[in-house]
Amino acid sequence: TKFTWVDQETCIACGACGAAAPDIFDYNDEGTAFVLLDENEGTAEVPQELLDDLDEACEGCPTESIKISDHTFTEEMKIS
Ligand code: F3S
Repeated sequence: TKFTWVDQETCIACGACGAAAPDIFDYNDEGTAFVLLDENEGTAEVPQELLDDLDEACEGCPTESIKISDHTFTEEMKIS
């Protein structure tokens, strides 16, 4: 079970994550990424079939803004 969340404080809107995992990540008007599954809350389980895409996106992010956890993200976890 995996959950993911984008740290929008460090995302530089490079656009790599949406290319690697279009069913997980999208961008707001500024080009900053967010998790489509749960409006970037970090509370929606990533579907099994998307885990490879998730890994690829995480590895490809130049700022390590894509966080992955075995548990739902709490507010404490979102403080960078
Ligand atoms: Fe931002 Fe990283 Fe995606 S910089 S646009 S979260 S690849």
